[in-house]
Amino acid sequence: MASRLVPSVFRSTPRVLRQLQKTQWRSISVTPIRRSDSLMVHRDSDVNNPSIPFKFTAQNEALIDEILSRYPSQYKKAAVMPLLDLGQRQHGFTSISVMNEVARLLEMPPMRVYEVATFYTMYNRNPVGRFHVQVCTTTPCMLCNSDAVMKACEDTLGIHHGQTTEDGLFTFTEVECLGACANAPMVQINDDYYEDLTYDTTVSLLKALQNAAEKTGAKPGEYGLGGAGAKGALTGEDKNVKGGDATNAQGRSYEAQGVQVPTPGPLSGRKSCEPAGGLTSLTGEPWGNETLRKDGEL
Ligand code: FES
Repeated sequence: MASRLVPSVFRSTPRVLRQLQKTQWRSISVTPIRRSDSLMVHRDSDVNNPSIPFKFTAQNEALIDEILSRYPSQYKKAAVMPLLDLGQRQHGFTSISVMNEVARLLEMPPMRVYEVATFYTMYNRNPVGRFHVQVCTTTPCMLCNSDAVMKACEDTLGIHHGQTTEDGLFTFTEVECLGACANAPMVQINDDYYEDLTYDTTVSLLKALQNAAEKTGAKPGEYGLGGAGAKGALTGEDKNVKGGDATNAQGRSYEAQGVQVPTPGPLSGRKSCEPAGGLTSLTGEPWGNETLRKDGEL
């Protein structure tokens, strides 16, 4: 019996070996877990719990009527995002009471509103400082030295990203691409973009805002430079005033509450995202039909 089995063992061995060779052995690779610094669950706190009442102001109620008129009445829940934004501007952040009020107005289950507010990072579900400094560190900004911008924020504000200064003036956040990569590196401060930054221009920008905040004397917890109005930014008069003749370290500024504030946009002298070294294309008369057809037909 044993002698009959031996040849069959020899015959099957190469087949088994071939099978083993074909098998792809791969080690399991895992990427390190990077947890977001924002908690995706709500925890009641003194400043953010459902027993804190929230109502829209009469002015914002009028705006809500206008927003709702854009949608068929059976689809009014489509207005959830602009209403949450309005609530955040009025209250300073998207608290649970803001979300509940939006759910009540739109006749939605509160959970549906929470789902939207927790998905979009633009809704701050915890209080932020008067200036919310969001530094982009995604690849294009990182390649243009967003590290220097981060360092300038840490050095000037004395806090790390994810923190708020003790006086409640600045919240410093690290964010992903804000869509202004052609002007990298950049930060968003409240509703404005400041671009083409260096360590020095970031420091002078933050100092200018500190200075402006001191002069306007708004209380901690207010948002932006428009005083009480800026908390609901749609009622703030100064926020979107651009231009002006006054100059500062960056060459341009605008006036808010009687103080000069750096004008949003590139702080490098560029007007927009044109090539820093001047035009490289479209430098002559563009070709048109009149150039191509000499026969007068066109
Ligand atoms: S990578 Fe910073 S704005 Fe796009």
